[in-house]
Amino acid sequence: VYAVAQKHDLVIIEDEPYYFLQMDPYKGPGASPVPPPSTHDEFLQALVPSFVRLDVDGRVVRLDSFSKVLAPGSRVGWAVLSQQLAERMVRHNEVSVQNPAGFAQIILFKLLDEQWGHGGYLDWLIHIRTEYTSRRNVLLDACHKYLPESVVSWAPPAAGMFVRTIGFLPVLPFSGTRANSRHSFGCTLTEASTPSLGNARCTPSNRKSSRRLWKTKC
Ligand SMILES: Cc1ncc(COP(=O)(O)O)c(C=O)c1O
Repeated sequence: VYAVAQKHDLVIIEDEPYYFLQMDPYKGPGASPVPPPSTHDEFLQALVPSFVRLDVDGRVVRLDSFSKVLAPGSRVGWAVLSQQLAERMVRHNEVSVQNPAGFAQIILFKLLDEQWGHGGYLDWLIHIRTEYTSRRNVLLDACHKYLPESVVSWAPPAAGMFVRTIGFLPVLPFSGTRANSRHSFGCTLTEASTPSLGNARCTPSNRKSSRRLWKTKC
């Protein structure tokens, strides 16, 4: 990817709020849990390297956020990028969002700088990664137990907090259209066992375009 970006002189924006939620591989139902990393170094070394590590041209913009690991509503993050691009980003922020909310900034400052320090933050990341790994394992165990593998498939996630399932349905829920090929869609459980299509909550115009997108995937 980096070589392609170099060839065409592209900037790579690495938007990675889930980066620290990387997990050990799922070993199947009933497998004993892998113990969490015992040191900060072990934790950091096991992470997939960022494009920043490969960046010799200053073409990578790395975006991090506290949204997925500390508080979804904090809306505070940070960027790692070359000085030249940082100057442009600062100018853009000055005429758009300006700053994250002051309340969020002061709460994070107090927690990270005055309470935790780097060590405390890394301890927290290890804790939350362990927590999400065990939730993922419970969810996948339940998929194995309750979902009929003849019609639904899924890939165990290696990071983040979502499991994507792919189902083969004779008739698509909500649209009533016959489905004679494979359809993939995001779904959430709103009521007991009622899957809702990701696009069901879109405005009519968005729904139209997301349906188009959805159909092109089939
Ligand atoms: C890929 C990705 N980037 C960025 C964000 C937003 O992060 P923030 O709350 O810091 O704006 C999200 C959250 O939904 C996300 O999924």
